[in-house]
Amino acid sequence: MRSTRYWESAAIPELYEWFAAEAEESSPAWARVARQVASTPSIAYLLDTLPPVARQPNLFLGALKFLGGPLDAGISLPDWVADHWLQIERLATTRFTQTNEVGRCAVIAPVLASLPQPIALIEVGMSAGLGLFPDLYSYSWTLDDGTIVTGGTPSEVTIECRVTGTGLPLTLPKLAWRAGIDRNPLDPADRDDAAWLRALVWPGEEVREERLAAALRTVAGQDALRVAGDITDALPAVVAAAPRDATVVVVHSATLAYLPREARERHLALLTELGVHWVTNEGRKVVPAVRDALPAGFADDPRPCFVLALDGVPLARVGSHGQWLEWL
Ligand SMILES: C[S@@+](CC[C@H](N)C(=O)[O-])C[C@H]1O[C@@H](n2cnc3c(N)ncnc32)[C@H](O)[C@@H]1O
Repeated sequence: MRSTRYWESAAIPELYEWFAAEAEESSPAWARVARQVASTPSIAYLLDTLPPVARQPNLFLGALKFLGGPLDAGISLPDWVADHWLQIERLATTRFTQTNEVGRCAVIAPVLASLPQPIALIEVGMSAGLGLFPDLYSYSWTLDDGTIVTGGTPSEVTIECRVTGTGLPLTLPKLAWRAGIDRNPLDPADRDDAAWLRALVWPGEEVREERLAAALRTVAGQDALRVAGDITDALPAVVAAAPRDATVVVVHSATLAYLPREARERHLALLTELGVHWVTNEGRKVVPAVRDALPAGFADDPRPCFVLALDGVPLARVGSHGQWLEWL
C-alpha cells in the first residue's frame, strides 16, 4: 500500500498504472479502467484538477460505481466521465475511503474473547461501526485439517475464515458496552452512506458486497456510542465513559495507516497512558512495536497481509479482509 503523500503527488498516469497492478488480482475490471484512465489524457486532466487529498484512485472509482457509471474499460468511459464530472468531483471531495469490512470480526473477536470478560469495546476509525457488533454475526472457521468451528448468532451475515496453526480459542467475546470514534461516522441505516460503502467494494467482489449489505442491515439502529472526532483527541473521554466493571479494549483495524507518523506515535503513546488493552489489525509496518517484534523471515512471504496484535505483541498474519488467519 502506498502512502497518502504518493496519491497526492504522483502524476495521474503513474498513479493509475500503479493502482491497476494493485487491483489486477481481485478486480480485473477496475485494473482495466485504471489503465484506460492512465492512457486517456482527457480523464487524467480532469483528475489532476482535484485537490491533493481527493486524488486517491479508490475515490474516483467509488464515485463511478456510486453514480451508476461504467464498471469496465470501454469506448464510452471518457465521455461518461466528462458528462458526470461535477458529480464525480463532489463525491471525491466530500466522501472518504472508509471501507468497512465485517470479515475482520473473524480474526479480531477471538482476541477480544481472550481477555477478562465482559468487554467494553471501543473501535477507533469505526466507519459505519460493523466491527462493534461481532456478536451479531455467524462464523465458520475452517482449520488446517478441514474441521469447521462455528460460532456466533444465527444471522444473515456468515463470516468464513481459514485458520492455520494453533493459537487463541475461536470464540466470541461478551460485550458489555460499545463505542466507536470516526472523523466521519457513517450511519448504516442511511441510504447514501450504505450505497457509498457498497460502491467502495470493487467489481468482481460481489459476494463481499452482498455480505456488506447484509451486515449494514443487521447493525442498522443498534445501540452504540458513536463519536465524531479525531481518534486521539476523542479517545480519553470515550474511555472515561466506559463501564468500570468491564475490560476496556481499543481496536484499530485498517485505520492507523491513515495517520501521519507523528500523529500515529501520539496515538500509541496515549494508549499506554490510558492503561487500556489495544488490538491492532494493520499493515506490517504500521505499528513500530509490532513490526519490531515480528519473527525473522516474516517479510519474505510476499502475500499482502495485516498483522493482528494485542498490546503490541504480534499474534497472527491475517488476510486484509479477515478471510484467513495464520497464528504466529
Ligand atoms: C479503512 S476504514 C476502516 C474501517 C474499519 N475499522 C474496518 O476495519 O472495517 C478507516 C476509517 O478510519 C477513519 N479515520 C482515519 N483517520 C482518522 C482520524 N485521525 N480520526 C478519526 N477517524 C479516522 C476513516 O474515516 C475511516 O472511516
